[in-house]
Amino acid sequence: MKHVQSLPEPSADALEHSEKLVANIKNAIESNGGSISFKRYMEMALYEPCLGYYVAGTHKIGEQGDFTTAPQISPLFSQCIANQCAEVLKSIYTKKASKVGGCIFEFGAGTGIMAAEILLELEKQNSLPETYFILDLSPELQQRQKQTIESKAPHLLTKVTWLTTLPKHFSGIVLANEVLDAMPVDVFTQHGDIVYEHHVIWQDDALLEQLRPATETNPALHDRVLRLNIPKEATPYTSEINSHITHWLKSIAEIIEEGLVLLIDYGYPRKEYYLAERNKGTLICHYQHLVNEAPLLNVGLQDITANVDFTAVAEAADSSKLEVAGFTSQACFLANTGLEEYFKHALENNLDDQYTLAQQVRTLTLPAEMGERFKCIGLTKNYPHQLCGFKDFDQRYRL
Ligand SMILES: C[S@@+](CC[C@H](N)C(=O)[O-])C[C@H]1O[C@@H](n2cnc3c(N)ncnc32)[C@H](O)[C@@H]1O
Repeated sequence: MKHVQSLPEPSADALEHSEKLVANIKNAIESNGGSISFKRYMEMALYEPCLGYYVAGTHKIGEQGDFTTAPQISPLFSQCIANQCAEVLKSIYTKKASKVGGCIFEFGAGTGIMAAEILLELEKQNSLPETYFILDLSPELQQRQKQTIESKAPHLLTKVTWLTTLPKHFSGIVLANEVLDAMPVDVFTQHGDIVYEHHVIWQDDALLEQLRPATETNPALHDRVLRLNIPKEATPYTSEINSHITHWLKSIAEIIEEGLVLLIDYGYPRKEYYLAERNKGTLICHYQHLVNEAPLLNVGLQDITANVDFTAVAEAADSSKLEVAGFTSQACFLANTGLEEYFKHALENNLDDQYTLAQQVRTLTLPAEMGERFKCIGLTKNYPHQLCGFKDFDQRYRL
């Protein structure tokens, strides 16, 4: 991805769409006394009904969109994830005397390619789940998911059920690839001892960021930022906190009876996230495969994303009574779940040419590509077994 200062001009239709969303945001600012928090702004920019980036009809993921995710790069990624799912599903199936097996629940399934590839691999392993549930906030993506599964694995479409809320009970595997980074975040700047919350205002016919003392606007954020112990010498220090993770994991922990929550995303353990030199935070935007740091531009037309604090994920798991069963880099997780064997099999069966396959593996695993920047964390409930994905190179000590 290239970092850029200037962005390609959106089409007239796109600009018209963006203006409608900006009008809604302007109304929200006015009815909230002149400002909204950045987190509320990000929520509207990404998820405002009919207009937000993820909700409206733009292409988003893949070559014609704004960014590419691991399942788009290679089926090898989803096959490795399927291998981890098979292990858990088999264990649940064996334990239950009845013929009822476990399920898979994928949050934010994007184009649906991972769901299709996982189902095909599990079918080969004779380990299909009872049901593959998908919950996505985006109606447009739900449609694309159906089309993808219909074209890649039509005979398995009946296995898939789309939900709009969580089921009451669930046993099996919860999957979320690059979902946490798409959740709205609080943005703060610490100046010495003072913590400011970033707000968005409307001034001179434009959206503008404004810093407001967090003691007045968001005391919980103020306290959380001070607990990060950012050295005063490193301030002014701007970064972000994802406060959604705690509620989100709690709601999952409440319904899961036994199984695994597998989260894959870019980010760091807290000690490496809030480094003095990372004093501008990690919030970036993706527009037509170009990276920019201007979230108030191209409203609703570009992705806004922040890295994940995996220590916060582990803490949220802990307080929800989920066990942190493993943490490692994407490269190590894929190595543990059979990437080499899947690669060899694909080569032997000419599933793609040698150069393309090798390039896919490099992108998924090289440290400078996705291998180190992306992490996998496994959270379990009533599942006291070793997980193959974390059997070597488990790095929970880093959290
Ligand atoms: C960056 S995309 C990743 C898509 C896909 N997992 C992939 O790897 O290609 C983020 C997705 O997460 C979804 N999303 C974000 N927050 C969510 C939530 N709380 N529940 C369900 N889906 C969510 C968005 O609608 C979007 O489809």
